[in-house]
This record gives sequence, C-alpha cells and structure tokens, in this order.
Amino acid sequence: MNDNTHYQRIGSEAGIRALVERFYELMDTLPETQTIRQMHAKDLRISQEKLFMFLSGWLGGPQLYTEKYGHPRLRQRHLPFAIDSSARDQWMQCMVQAMKDVGIEPELRKELEAAFFKTADFMRNKAD
Ligand code: HEM
Repeated sequence: MNDNTHYQRIGSEAGIRALVERFYELMDTLPETQTIRQMHAKDLRISQEKLFMFLSGWLGGPQLYTEKYGHPRLRQRHLPFAIDSSARDQWMQCMVQAMKDVGIEPELRKELEAAFFKTADFMRNKAD
C-alpha cells in the first residue's frame, strides 16, 4: 500500500482507533456539544466502532465499513437527525480537538480538517 495515504500518515488502525475514542469522549463530555450527543444512543460503543470502520476506508485503508454494511450512504443515514450548521460545528469541534489531543501533526491535521468539514457540511439537512 502507498505510504503516503492519510491512512498511513495517521498511524493506520491504532491511530484511527485513538482518534475515534477521543472524539466520542469529547462529544460525551463537552458542554457545548450536548445537542449532538443527545442524538446518539446512550452507549457510544457502536457509533465508535462504525466511525472507526468508516474512517479506515475513507482515509485510504481497508474498506471495513463497506465490507460489513455496504455503501455508507452517509447523507441518507443522517437524515433522521436534524443537522444544521450548529450541529455540524459541534461535530467539527470534537474532531478538531480530538486530532490535536491524539497528537496528529499539524500539516496532516489541516488537510483532514478540510476534508472532514466538506463531509460534515454535506450532512446538513436543516436550515438555520
Ligand atoms: C455534521 C454533523 C454530524 C452529526 C450531528 C452526526 C450524527 C450522527 C448520529 C446521531 C449518528 C447515529 C449514531 C447512533 O445511532 O448512535 C451518526 C452515525 C454515523 N456517522 Fe455521523 N454525524 C455527523 C457527521 C458525520 C461525518 C462528517 C461523518 C464521517 C466523516 C460521520 C460518520 C458517521 C457514520 C459512519 C455513522 C454510522 C452510520 C451507520 O449507522 O451505519 N458523521 N452520526
């Protein structure tokens, strides 16, 4: 596999696991992100595992999510939740902070932040 994929640069499976663990820990505890926390199940372990599997493929590594669940159809799967720009920004706040906390280098963080923002913005389904 190409050494320069985001998957390799983030530290492969272990790097993604650390990131999603911190991401949901932040979502669970930051007072500013409780609106999106409330949209999720009480137990975050399934969301965590699904995000881990999705990101593995999304970052250029093994397509774990697609192998297990088929095409992600992410926008459609998010339609049951009212996602406005504030919800998007809460999601981004957790991800940006999680990337810092797990020690992803600044250059990679910048690239990933832009890519995450595009995807998060695409999930918006409610006017402000
Ligand atoms: C824009 C703000 C977002 C909000 C508010 C949001 C919220 C949610 C919620 C509530 C669920 C269901 C979890 C549960 O049932 O406990 C979910 C599932 C999921 N989200 Fe998001 N999400 C957002 C953005 C994103 C982004 C940007 C990605 C990918 C980079 C993503 C990837 C996923 C995946 C892979 C699942 C699992 C889908 C499945 O059920 O198979 N989400 N999200």
